[in-house]
Amino acid sequence: MTRPIDRFLRACRGEPVDTTPVWLMRQAGRYMPEYRATRARAGDFLNLCRSPDLACEVTMQPVDQLDVDAAILFSDILVPLAPMGIQVGFTEEGPQLEPVRSDEDIARLVIAEPEGCAYVFEAIRQCRQALAARGERAVPLIGFAGAPFTLLTYAVEGRTGKQFVATKRLLFSAPAAAHALLDKLTETVIRYLHAQVEAGAQALQLFDSWVGILGREDFAAFAAPYVERVLAALRPLGVPLIYFPNGGSALYEQVGALPADVVAVDWRLPLDVAAERLGIAGRSDRAIQGNLDPLRLLGPVDALEQQVREILGQARPLRCAHVFNLGHGVVPETPVNHVAALVELVHRLGARPPAAAA
Ligand code: CP3
Repeated sequence: MTRPIDRFLRACRGEPVDTTPVWLMRQAGRYMPEYRATRARAGDFLNLCRSPDLACEVTMQPVDQLDVDAAILFSDILVPLAPMGIQVGFTEEGPQLEPVRSDEDIARLVIAEPEGCAYVFEAIRQCRQALAARGERAVPLIGFAGAPFTLLTYAVEGRTGKQFVATKRLLFSAPAAAHALLDKLTETVIRYLHAQVEAGAQALQLFDSWVGILGREDFAAFAAPYVERVLAALRPLGVPLIYFPNGGSALYEQVGALPADVVAVDWRLPLDVAAERLGIAGRSDRAIQGNLDPLRLLGPVDALEQQVREILGQARPLRCAHVFNLGHGVVPETPVNHVAALVELVHRLGARPPAAAA
């Protein structure tokens, strides 16, 4: 019988598991009263990210309350942009950055040394200690970063993009400048993730939240080669590598060619169709992660059960591993008891017959 402690890592490696592992993007966040309390103590969101003890506390909240199979470091994808020389702030409307658009803006950015984010690695060390102290309830810790293209959109737009006019103007009018920026972001992300693993991260997820705005040709030019470089550079570390191309279902044939162990998929395609397009159905060395629409958590629990049955039913015949997750992050309006119900449903309905788990 698989020990629950490594259920998630076993699934990422394509090894047999007793039941489907589950964790949720944004599992620590404003939908939890305990998170809101810790955040109030921190003062603001960046302070929370920069205080290792508080970041650790928040990372542990869903582990202690929800029976999820992995912890994800509490931080933000924009954190490593600051030591590159980009001013990063958060307001009620979301992230606010000093936009990087001209050749000169890009030229003055540096490849950040991981020491610029020392508090992140300290938070990771504290999380590993806190997890180890949970004994049989310990779970692995996932580290993460933004993928280079998604980080470029934040650097160039200065906030969460809407039409991505500034981003696409740069890509299409000044492609050499875009590549220069992508290059610096890629090197920064590689060093940053390397240091996360050294500090104790046991798996890594690369969030490509905005890659879905690219057509195939532009994905091939501005996103895929940089994701590939990050994944190839981290491969020797031996931890599972997860790639999340949000909104990228039109790109799955290309995504499937990237060297990720696990591809996280959104809800826009059924899980089995996504796996076919990615070319990972039947591949015992690859896994798929996903893909409940996060807003399904706002609906009644019996409808949620139907959805979980459907997704697990799509995953079962795939002959590749499945990690249950949402298709994007938990939203603040989500009832905590629905999240707890989801985790319980996945574990109960995903249980393998004892012989298959041997
Ligand atoms: O998943 C987790 O529990 C770990 C923590 C985590 C956060 N952000 C905390 C956060 C992770 C993995 C992220 C990644 C992140 N950050 C992404 C990629 C995932 C995605 O959503 O596509 C992106 C695009 C960002 C950038 C970002 N950070 C935005 C657009 C916002 C504002 C939107 C919002 O939800 O408020 C943030 C702020 C943020 N990051 C919050 C949290 C919990 C809310 C801040 C608060 O407490 O007010």
